[in-house]
Order: sequence, then C-alpha cells, then structure tokens
Amino acid sequence: MSSSPRRLLVTSALPYANGQIHIGHLVEYVQTDIWVRYQRMRGHEVHYVGADDTHGTPIMLRAEKEGLTPKELIANVWQEHKRDFDDFLISFDNYYTTDSPENEKLSQSIYLKLRDAGLIEMRSIEQAYDPVKEMFLPDRFIKGECPKCGAKDQYGDSCEKCGATYSPTDLKNPFSVVSGATPIKKVSDHYFFKLSDPRCENFLREWTQVRTPLQPEARNKMKEWVGQPGESKLGDWDISRDAPYFGFEIPDAPGKYFYVWLDAPIGYYASFLNYCEKKGLNFEEWVKPDTTTEQYHFIGKDILYFHTLFWPATLHFAGYRTPTNVFAHGFLTVDGEKMSKSRGTLISAHSVIESGFNPEWFRYYFATKLNDSMEDLDLNLQDFVARVNSDLLGKYINIASRSAGFLVKRFGGLVSDEAMNHPLLTEISTAQDKIATLYEGREYAKALRAIMDLADKVNAFVDENKPWDIAKAPECEADLQSICSVTLEAFRMLSLYLKPVLPKVVAGVEAFLSVPPLNWNDINTPLSSQNPINTYKHLMTRVEASQIETLLAANV
Ligand code: 2FM
Ligand code: ZN
Repeated sequence: MSSSPRRLLVTSALPYANGQIHIGHLVEYVQTDIWVRYQRMRGHEVHYVGADDTHGTPIMLRAEKEGLTPKELIANVWQEHKRDFDDFLISFDNYYTTDSPENEKLSQSIYLKLRDAGLIEMRSIEQAYDPVKEMFLPDRFIKGECPKCGAKDQYGDSCEKCGATYSPTDLKNPFSVVSGATPIKKVSDHYFFKLSDPRCENFLREWTQVRTPLQPEARNKMKEWVGQPGESKLGDWDISRDAPYFGFEIPDAPGKYFYVWLDAPIGYYASFLNYCEKKGLNFEEWVKPDTTTEQYHFIGKDILYFHTLFWPATLHFAGYRTPTNVFAHGFLTVDGEKMSKSRGTLISAHSVIESGFNPEWFRYYFATKLNDSMEDLDLNLQDFVARVNSDLLGKYINIASRSAGFLVKRFGGLVSDEAMNHPLLTEISTAQDKIATLYEGREYAKALRAIMDLADKVNAFVDENKPWDIAKAPECEADLQSICSVTLEAFRMLSLYLKPVLPKVVAGVEAFLSVPPLNWNDINTPLSSQNPINTYKHLMTRVEASQIETLLAANV
C-alpha cells in the first residue's frame, strides 16, 4: 500500500427527507463510517459528506398533509436525521441538504452543459394525471385492482397478493391515491437525457466494463444494460417533472422541474462544495477530470443503476471527473425476514437509543456481518446479544479489567518496558497488514474475526499465567508486573485495530491508558514505564436479552 497520503471524497446515499432513519439505513452509514475512520487513522486526507435528499412528490405531499411547507418539513427532518447520525457516531465532515443554493446552481449548470453537448431532448409524453388535484401522478400514487387476480388496492407496478407485475395503465378501476379521482391521460413536454446517444453508450460501456473496478455482481448487471456496441438497452432518461413539484426549476423551461434523481447525486457535490467553502478547500481541484483525488460512493444495491449509469454519464458529459468506485451493499433482514412494521422489526435508529442500547453494540454487530459483496445480511436478535456479550465484553473489554487493577494497585499504574518485547505482542503487531487489507477491502467480518482470534490468544495467555495466583506470592512481583504489562499492551493494540468500529469505547481506552489518539502507525509505540495509566473504569456494559423485547415493543 502506498505510504503517501491519499485524498479521498467519500459519500453514503442521501436519505429521503420524509421518513426516519432505521437500522436498514444504518448498515450503510456504519459501513461507510468504519471505512472513513480507518482511512483517517492511516493519515489520509478524507472528506466524508452527506445530505438529506429533499425533493420530489412524496415529500411535497407529506408536507401538505402535515400542514407544513416542504421547506418546514425538510428542516424538521434534517434535525432528526442529524441527531440519529450523531448518536451512531457517523462522522460526517458535512451533513447538508439537497435543497441548497449550491445544489441549485450546480444542477442548473450541469444541465446546461449537457444541453450544450446536444444530450438533452424535449419530447411530448402521455402520463396519468389527477384531474381533481391537477397534478401528474407518479406510478406509486396510482392504485387499483390487480389485472390478474383482481385483488383490490394494489400499486401501479405490481400486485402484493399474486406477485404479478404490470404497468399502471393495466390496473382495473384505477384511482389516485392523492384525491381518489380516476386518473386521466394527459400529454406534456418532458426533457430527456439521451443516454442512447452512441457517445453515452460507448462511455458507459468503457466506464462500467473496463475502467472502474466495480464489484463483479455490479459489473455483470451493468453489462446486461450496456450490452455490446449496437445492442444497448439504455433508454433515454426522463429528467423533468411538471409543476406542482418540490424541486429546482429547469432553466428556460418555466413550470418544469428537475426530477429528484437528477439533483440528488449532484447533492453530493453540493454538500462538498459547501464544506470546501467553509474550510477553504479547492473544490475544482477535486472534481476536474484529470484530478488525482479519489471519489467513492457507498450505496444500497437497489440504487446501483443511478450511481453506475446516470451519475457517471452526468458527470462525464458535464466536464467533471467520474467516481473512482461505487460500493454497493445488500439489504438488512431481521431474524431472516424482511423488516416489517407489524413484527416491530422496522426498527428506527432513535428507538434503539431510547431503548437504552449502546450504539456501538450495533456498529460492532453490523461490522461482523459486512463484507465486500452485495449479499443481504441478517440481524439475528439472539445472536446479537450473544455476539456482543461474548466478543466485546467477554473477549475484548475483559482483557483490560483482568490486568489494569494489579498495575494500578501494585505498580503505580506503570508497565514494565522489558515486557514490551513479548512474542505475543509481536504476533499481534504482525497481523496489522492483514487487518489493514481487510478494512481497505470492506471485509469487516473477516477483520473482526482476525482481531477476536488475537483476543482469544491474549485471554489464553492470562489464563496460563494466572496473575491472580502470582499476586499472592511476594517474590513474584516482577512476573506479575510483566504479565499485566503484556496483557495491557495487547489490549492497547487490539483497541487500535477496533477503533474504526468502536470510536467511543476506544476514546475511553485512550483516556484510561493516558495515550494520545491512536493512529494506525502507533501499533509499535508501546505503553511506557514513564507514563502511568489511570484507574480502570467500565468501558462498556453487557446487553440484556430483555432489552430486545423493549426495542421490538417500541417499534410496533
Ligand atoms: O434511495 C434513496 O433513498 C435515495 N434518497 C438515495 C439518493 S442517493 C444520491 F444519489 F443522492
Ligand atoms: Zn394480483
């Protein structure tokens, strides 16, 4: 791995500003945050930005229902989201909103560059329209009877009862979810980004199949879409919506707004621009095509299409750099099933905190499940309790409590310097490159397994050396100090490895050991006999099985 500092811009997907953050979202923010914290520990220049995704019809309608303006609604939701991210120790450098002046300016200028490049086309299309509410209806806002099985109250794209898929025009007795009226057809002018233009097709074929080291599953999926020259399945992308719409107006097109998915990813740049202006960073240097900086987007697999087709094409043809890579993760299931409101498993981030859970338990548990693939991951609630208690408390935290007491009571909190050459410590430091590679490659489950294997070895060392017996023999003072010193230094090293996952616990460890914030290179800077440790105080409590009941009850 290169030793010169890298320059990284990192994002997580922008959550919609019309709902709460739940544990499904948290998987992604935790995954990104661990990676970001690891990169910071390596000494790289990292900027991690996010924002609320604020535009579109659902947000406009929800605001209306709540008697708020969309701007009032999104301001309230922003506060809640920011609180939840802070609670879960998600270390955004900037958390912003897509409804910002920076985003409006960037979206409009990007659009104009695409238009100047001949990649925007206006076409008349026919769409469902609510004649009472006087608005065009997105598919989700039309319901009716399933054309196949006749089930009532089904959405316009698929039937929840029989699984049939169809288009909203196939529904029997369709009605608008907004007003109940029967939708009519109405023609209107829309603006399209011409992805079918050979320039776009060729660019995307090269970008997804050659240039970008996408996950194999992602690359294969994109291969289907971009095909061989002449057989692409890419349709042009409808980027406009008609008033009434909460969003940004399209230049030279009164009453036409950018579709939310046009301005949402530009929101990554708008958040970064806002941050650059506050911090005196040179935004242009990060986004120009020949930049040496890196840009990574962490996302869920459901929005791959937007991030590996629309977004790189938008950037490239507007004269910007494109992402270095896009990392997609799978969905979270709870006890093997899709999260469900009625089972209480659609667990909000805030309810986790309100139910007295330590957010680092979740950070740890998710990390034990995460890898570099798009496979789904399961939160098994029994396993959660067992894992947290046995790994975090039983294996890791226990090491400190087994050694610190003797050092403080018998040796003035001082370690012995000679003990720092012990082979156990060499073994732990030798694992550093392997653990680094696993963090870098988002193989957190494997990284944590490697760290817990080392913790097992440290506990075995304590069990073999029995400091509690040695403490009874006055002639073995030096042995006692040595054993406890090895153990505590091992604890320091394990804490360093765990810091990206458990930043708060490890901040407590740093204070307890009286050492400066641990960085990746500090692995070989051991505790010193010149620097007494402090009295050990509990760093983390156990999770009680009864807390699970409280949490589920809080979410029904
Ligand atoms: O799917 C979603 O939740 C979107 N709000 C994600 C947007 S990510 C980015 F493109 F803005
Ligand atoms: Zn059906």
